[in-house]
Amino acid sequence: MENFGVQIDEIIERYPDKPEYLIFLLQDIQSSYGYISPEAMQLACDRTGVPLTQGYSVATFYQSFRLDPSGEHEIRVCLGTACHLKGGQRLVEDLERRLNIKAGETTADMRYTLNTVNCVGACALSPVAIIDDEYHPNATARKLEKRLNALDQTDAADEKEAGHA
Ligand code: FES
Repeated sequence: MENFGVQIDEIIERYPDKPEYLIFLLQDIQSSYGYISPEAMQLACDRTGVPLTQGYSVATFYQSFRLDPSGEHEIRVCLGTACHLKGGQRLVEDLERRLNIKAGETTADMRYTLNTVNCVGACALSPVAIIDDEYHPNATARKLEKRLNALDQTDAADEKEAGHA
């Protein structure tokens, strides 16, 4: 879990103890830790006086919040109308098989998280997938597979290098 050296208490104390600050507090936690753990949610709700169930409603309403840790690489497949019509769903299914997870999940080795998203504004190039922040227009299962294989190789080489450091 990332925390960039920031303690959760330090983040909590940045915000006044008022319900309207919950969302800012959650955003801050997520940008420091990558996700909002149950403990962090409890602390944020205690601080702002918001009931826990409401805290979770807020976090699930805004799709940008994550309640689980993300993998090292995030794959997003667009399932907006244009991408859906051009086979976006097939891409999701192929990736689910390749990674052995369902959309919304992270692989057991914490390397990949697979998510679906709504239109990312590149409909003319559909179907679109995004790996980390890299757009893949006119995506095919084969092209994405190639990219993932390349990432696997780079990561393996980095690990090997780190092992020798
Ligand atoms: S529907 Fe996928 S980019 Fe618009």
